[in-house]
Amino acid sequence: MKKIAVLISGSGSNLEAIANACNKKKIDGEISCVISNNSQAYGIERAKKLNLKSIIVDHNLFNDRSEFDDQIDKILVEEKIELVVLAGFMRILEKKITDKYFGRMINLHPSLLPLYPGLNTHKKVIKNKDNKHGVSIHYVSPELDAGPIIAQGSIKVKKNETAEDLQKRIHKIEHILLPEVINEICIGNIFLSNNSVKFKNKNITNHIINSYDE
Ligand code: GRF
Repeated sequence: MKKIAVLISGSGSNLEAIANACNKKKIDGEISCVISNNSQAYGIERAKKLNLKSIIVDHNLFNDRSEFDDQIDKILVEEKIELVVLAGFMRILEKKITDKYFGRMINLHPSLLPLYPGLNTHKKVIKNKDNKHGVSIHYVSPELDAGPIIAQGSIKVKKNETAEDLQKRIHKIEHILLPEVINEICIGNIFLSNNSVKFKNKNITNHIINSYDE
């Protein structure tokens, strides 16, 4: 069973989806700790209810990004973490730590990357009148939201849909796809080799673009 750390900054609904999947043995791994840079994150409450160890590393208490990253790294080492999942973690990590964990750190991003790295993805989709939207899960590299893509889930944007509507539908996909990908990584079916994502079991290449249209 792989030891997983989930890093959050906010609501933590994805954290809860991962924890539920672990409890139901749908993930061959366990959440060893939850780390939040935000002491007010609702995800901390969720972690408590789920009996998960949570640690707050408030970025405001550090002189710079590097010191903050070093503290995160210290915890990951102490907890013997094998897979780091950024699930709504809203801090940019510097190259030193992303290089160290390359291939062992994944991020969930609410867009069909390479479209819309960064913030406000749902609003951008509406503004640009896109007819497709989705989520991406990728290995973390030093460039923001740009590491090798593991899996994506897409939806068709409906007429008159708002950014809030999209956010709700995107969350539903995330709660399905992220635990699936984590399990495939835990059992060794998905891994990174020479900068590219490898799939041991041919069937799971289907994950790459899954359509979640009703
Ligand atoms: C998700 O939509 C994720 O894609 C984005 O932040 C959101 C986190 O949601 N990076 P939650 O905190 O898991 O509810």
